[in-house]
Amino acid sequence: MLQIITNFWTTRAVYVLAKLGIPDLLKSGPKSAPELAGLTGMHAPSMYRLLRALASAGMLQTEADVRFALTPMSELLVTDAPGSMRSFVVSELGQEHYPAWGNFMHSIQTGGIAFDDHFGMDIWQYFQQNPEDAAVFNDSMSGMTAVVNEKITSLYDFSRFNKIVDVGGGHGGLITAILKANPQAFGVLFDAEQVISGARPKLEAAGVADRCAAIAGDFFESVPAGGDAYIMKWIIHDWDDEKATRILKNIRSKIPQNGRVIIVDGGKERSAREFDQLLTSAGFRFLYFANAPAASRSASGRYPQSLAISSAHAPIRGAIVSNNARASAAVRVSRFFAANPGKVKCQRDVTSNTQPAGGMSGSTCSAPAALSIKRSAR
Ligand SMILES: C[S@@+](CC[C@H](N)C(=O)[O-])C[C@H]1O[C@@H](n2cnc3c(N)ncnc32)[C@H](O)[C@@H]1O
Repeated sequence: MLQIITNFWTTRAVYVLAKLGIPDLLKSGPKSAPELAGLTGMHAPSMYRLLRALASAGMLQTEADVRFALTPMSELLVTDAPGSMRSFVVSELGQEHYPAWGNFMHSIQTGGIAFDDHFGMDIWQYFQQNPEDAAVFNDSMSGMTAVVNEKITSLYDFSRFNKIVDVGGGHGGLITAILKANPQAFGVLFDAEQVISGARPKLEAAGVADRCAAIAGDFFESVPAGGDAYIMKWIIHDWDDEKATRILKNIRSKIPQNGRVIIVDGGKERSAREFDQLLTSAGFRFLYFANAPAASRSASGRYPQSLAISSAHAPIRGAIVSNNARASAAVRVSRFFAANPGKVKCQRDVTSNTQPAGGMSGSTCSAPAALSIKRSAR
């Protein structure tokens, strides 16, 4: 109980560690608290207490309580580590998300958004006004998406599509991974102007700029036309039903008859019934719902179990929706970053309106006991 109550002390300590860039400083080898305090301009005795607290949480290793070294967990906070979580930690536990969580009671009391109530604006307006925080957030999305991209491209077959539109695609990590895995496809990265301007150089650097248009706009107004697939990762969960329906309707007005909408979510998780209502109101038809448990290790298998504890209990989620009014489907699969590839490995085809008997078509999920699939009543 005490540990649960005091968990936020540890997470704030992790924030200080990441914000000060201490894992970067430890990349070259162990260092003492006075050395690290000198390099970061901090108070040495307090630095020592911080480092010992983090060592007790498995974030650092001590050498005779004098020098401190990286562990597999803090290696994930090195800025240029593949799938680095440094920006995510700084964004989630720092300037904007953390104070909003302090106002959590507001959400429970009113159903409103704690962030909006605390800051007097929504998070996207906040990022427009605070470009430094926006830059950290965009980097955090790129880092986190790097961890799940491979999972998404292996879970879903994009090879049938010619043009894939990533709606609210941030700096383009996901569309880049999809295009690299599917050399036949063209992509469209769509996001707000200030995000797209930062994305163009990244598409160039990744070598996909010649196959991927970067278009700025507002998904509440419209989305680019011409896609036969529209993917939204960590978008629909950001919005209430009215706003989510607006986004989906804008896609509905542009998508061809046999197009697909692929939704990958986390955060505001909708139940099967809620998804059904939402998709129906946007002109799609919900067919079935599946839920697989998260495994205790990450997609990459690199994280120690202790890091995965918070996500180990979280279900893994996603949705796949067809535009065919007679044959559309939503599938919740997983919170991808918590999935063990050995446990959750499903090939799905939701192009038909027939419910696969006893599970998902072609599924090789090894956790069928936890799968619950619902057929649409229509
Ligand atoms: C949670 S982030 C997800 C980014 C990306 N899909 C990923 O998974 O890494 C939400 C994205 O939606 C974009 N966004 C928010 N409001 C938008 C709007 N009205 N029109 C277009 N994009 C918007 C944000 O700029 C941000 O990049």
